[in-house]
Parts: sequence; structure tokens; C-alpha cells
Amino acid sequence: MVLKVFRWSPGSRERLQKYWVKARQGMTVLDALVEVQRGTDPTLAFRYACRVGMCGSCGMVINGRERWACRTLLSKLERGAVTVRPLYHFPLIRDLVVEMEPIKRKMLESKAVFVPRRPAEDEAGFAAVGGRSRERRAVDAAIECIGCGMCVSACTMVAHDPRFPGPAALNRVFTLQRDSRDGAHAERGEALLAEDVLTRCHTQANCTAVCPMQLSPTDSILALRRRAVLRLIGISPR
Ligand code: SF4
Ligand code: FES
Repeated sequence: MVLKVFRWSPGSRERLQKYWVKARQGMTVLDALVEVQRGTDPTLAFRYACRVGMCGSCGMVINGRERWACRTLLSKLERGAVTVRPLYHFPLIRDLVVEMEPIKRKMLESKAVFVPRRPAEDEAGFAAVGGRSRERRAVDAAIECIGCGMCVSACTMVAHDPRFPGPAALNRVFTLQRDSRDGAHAERGEALLAEDVLTRCHTQANCTAVCPMQLSPTDSILALRRRAVLRLIGISPR
């Protein structure tokens, strides 16, 4: 089979380079890239760590869609050449490797950081949230985010408005706004009302379509919107 891989390094031109790989049963896109790197072209750069769909570091755009390379079987892709390129909307370091710093920056900018309601040394501030409680069930799926950035790559509004926090950060904000141990609900709630935040999402759900953990950042954003509207009309959301 033919792999068409995006290549770029500082000072060179972007190009798609073709590699021929003998596809074996059960071979993933990551297996194919590793084989190319070990056998044909040691200069090819890409990132991975766990190889079992846990860390999210192998996120890339495969045949036009964000996927994790280590869990994408060649046999499940359309017939013909397989095209691989780096995630969109992240600064490119080299070939398939992007700089993930924008995820951290957007989390910080949108206050997607836990703020203890009481001082950390006060153990009561970290009271357990029961696994079956309503509070916990509301965020059950959303807390499984592995920060892979695929949803950000798939989001058209991230490209359109650099001030939009994007789906990963807003998904995290949602989990914090439902966390009774967190003390920054009011401040974060205020920030969410800014023009470039909640209203900027057009609910195209591209983020949800590509999330490898089957989360729905779209639903998290809609839930934040509902809570914001309730607050605006003077009802305190549960
Ligand atoms: S929400 Fe899903 S796609 Fe987005 S960073 Fe988290 S795990 Fe990755
Ligand atoms: S290498 Fe960790 S998810 Fe693919």
C-alpha cells in the first residue's frame, strides 16, 4: 500500500512524500509509519507514546479526518493511498509533529483550571464527590479527556477566531462549573459571557465527531450555554 505523508521542516517546502509499505493483517497507521522510519526514512518525524489508545499523542489527520494513528487499522480505511498530515490549528514543528502549547494556553485563558473552594490544607475543601451522585454523573464522560487536540484540529471556529477557547478547553470548563469543590464558578461564568466564548460555537459538532474518547464537547458547550442563560435570568442552575 501507498502512504502519502506530509513532510516539512524549517527551511524546506511542504510536500506529500510517498512511501510503499507491505500491509499486514492488523497493521495500524502508526505501525506503517514506524516501519517507514525504521526501514526507509529515519528522518520522518511523528509522535507517539503508549501505542494502545491512551495518551493521545499520535493524533493526526488520516485520509482527511482526525484520528489516533495507533488505533486506526489500515484495513478499516478506504481503499487506495492513505494520506497522513499533522493536526490543523497547531504550530508545526516538523513533519507530523505539532506544538501542543495552544491547548494549555487556551485552558489558562478560559480559566479551565481547578480553584479549590477552601485552602488546600483544609481537607474538607476536597470532600469526595460520590461516584453515583448527580453532580458526578453530569460530568462522567467529559472528565475522560486526554488532551489529544483532535477536537481543536477539527473545529472550524478555532481557525476563524483566535480568541475562541475551543472545544477541549470548554469541555474542561464544563466539568469545573459542575464541581462543587471548585471556588471559581462566578469568575469563570463571567468570562464565558464574553463575545468570543460560548456564542462563538456554531454547534457543527466536528469536535464530537472526531473525539477518540467518544466525548461530546458540543454537549458540554450547550450545557454551559444553558447554565449561562439561567444565570442571566436570575435562576441559579443546579
Ligand atoms: S475532547 Fe476528545 S478530542 Fe478533544 S482533546 Fe479531549 S479527548 Fe481529545
Ligand atoms: S500512541 Fe498513545 S494514543 Fe496512540
